[in-house]
Amino acid sequence: MCGIIGYCGQKPAVPIVLDALKRLEYRGYDSAGIASLSDGELLIRKDAGKVDDVIRKLNLASLPGNVAIGHTRWATHGAVTQSNAHPHTDCGGRVAVVHNGIVENNRQLRQGLIAGGHKFTSETDTEVIPHLVEDELRNGCSLEQAVLNIAPKLEGSYAFLVISLGDPGKIAGTRRNNPLIVGINGPDYYVSSDALAFSQYTNQVMSLEDNEVVVLTREGVEFFDARGCKLVKQARKLDHSWAESSKDSYQHFMLKEIMDQTQVLDQIVRQDEKTFTETALDILRARQVIITACGSSRYAALVGRYLFSKVGKKFCDVVMASEFGYFADSVDKNTVVIAVSQSGETADIIDGVKAAKDAGAQVISIINRPNSILADLSHQVIYLNCGAEIAVAATKTFLSQLALFYLLSFSMINDFNEASAKLISLNSEISKVLDCNKSELITLSQKLKDKNDFYYIARGINFAIASEGALKLKEVSYVHAEGMPAGELKHGTLALIEPGTPVVVICPADYTFNETLSNAMEAKSRGAYIIGVSDKEGDLYDSWVRLPQVDELLYPMVAVVPLQLLAYYVAINRGCDPDKPRNLAKSVTVK
Ligand code: AGP
Repeated sequence: MCGIIGYCGQKPAVPIVLDALKRLEYRGYDSAGIASLSDGELLIRKDAGKVDDVIRKLNLASLPGNVAIGHTRWATHGAVTQSNAHPHTDCGGRVAVVHNGIVENNRQLRQGLIAGGHKFTSETDTEVIPHLVEDELRNGCSLEQAVLNIAPKLEGSYAFLVISLGDPGKIAGTRRNNPLIVGINGPDYYVSSDALAFSQYTNQVMSLEDNEVVVLTREGVEFFDARGCKLVKQARKLDHSWAESSKDSYQHFMLKEIMDQTQVLDQIVRQDEKTFTETALDILRARQVIITACGSSRYAALVGRYLFSKVGKKFCDVVMASEFGYFADSVDKNTVVIAVSQSGETADIIDGVKAAKDAGAQVISIINRPNSILADLSHQVIYLNCGAEIAVAATKTFLSQLALFYLLSFSMINDFNEASAKLISLNSEISKVLDCNKSELITLSQKLKDKNDFYYIARGINFAIASEGALKLKEVSYVHAEGMPAGELKHGTLALIEPGTPVVVICPADYTFNETLSNAMEAKSRGAYIIGVSDKEGDLYDSWVRLPQVDELLYPMVAVVPLQLLAYYVAINRGCDPDKPRNLAKSVTVK
């Protein structure tokens, strides 16, 4: 949550920082702000609102300076207001800070600072940082020394950047459990929560470990460990697929990313077979296997559990990451924990993985984003390789997670190559699903746009797809939706079905078809509007979303795609911005 960016170099800083804020907006978009050092002045502009609106309203593009920091906010402490937007400053307006994360002991720190005469102007946890820096600078510290001195006083997780009139021409920053990455291009230096913010300028990057401090000046970049000793770091090359963040001709990233799914499986299968075989063996040998994840990643994990059981004959459990800590007692060195996370930043997962590691478990992660905290914590990382996903709602990364579980489960029976070939052949089926259903889905979304409740049902491996379809609709359209095993409907939820209630029935022509249809009939008898998602026509469908015929274990990958598109079109019809759903952010770095 929250995106931070800093630039220091030969070029005008503000256009670079503003451009970066647009690219970081997926991390939070309720407020934005910028601070720039120019001719002995610290210029600060910020407000509530989306990045483009704030830029326009405050005429930010006109700000001068060669050193600047910026922020996009997802509010945790304090309402969405101008005064709570970042950057935050010290008493004299000589220090500016942008921060991602939570300073958990901010109340105690604030009380101490107020007792010492500091004046606060916001409700945020962040504001303690510039005041702490102020005290250090007053004592004659350099900016980087100030950061080194105050970091141990901060509890919680954070990455922050600071600039000051007292030590101008530089940006200092540090991180703990939140990402911070440096980019270098000749005499130009960038630092951000995500390399995507500056990947159009450079692919040379350097990462910071927890508690390390970085300082950027026009002369170069320096790193220090927590004791202040200088560190030597080598730049690495950023994967080029991560540099791409354009919508092309699409109106929204969500639509582009749904459409990307016609090609994404080609990239996914580019994996090292040996790694898969070894990882599959580790899973098979483990006394217990626990998959932990949140949101869409958890639904992908539920499909994974089914595949492991069906193909590899290995039972495993899926535990919601925010609940994982409560099950940690049984974790030991004979446990394999598989953490599934698009971002690799989700705080609930990071916490659980740390606890599991402490208990001796082997941690295998499935991640999309490179250079993540989760990757650093894991014994083994498998990357999705599907490029940056910008829309808050997961689409192509969800499909990629399903594909990776498919590959892993077939690696358990030494069939990696056959599984890869099947995944590649699925590309054309996904194209077909999109082509043949597009106009039906547009019509359906217009028809159903004012409905308040949707139910999604399925059985077996497709149950998780019902849940994922419902989650997509909730996220981007703000419509109540529930996904459940079809057999569960009659155990309570059926009471909510009224004439016209939309029920999405995922019923491919497999062994679940007849039973799922019986449950759909129960809903239909109470007046439900049935949307059948199937390769087989059914008399009771009011609308039919056609699936191609594929292997039983591949149905989730073709069935989820039209459900994503349905959610997208309902959002458009309801006037919602599917890329930036209210109250949400792509990386959930708070618990
Ligand atoms: C998916 O559409 C959601 N944005 C959300 O549920 C997401 O899957 C969840 O927050 C987990 O994120 P992660 O995969 O980055 O850990």
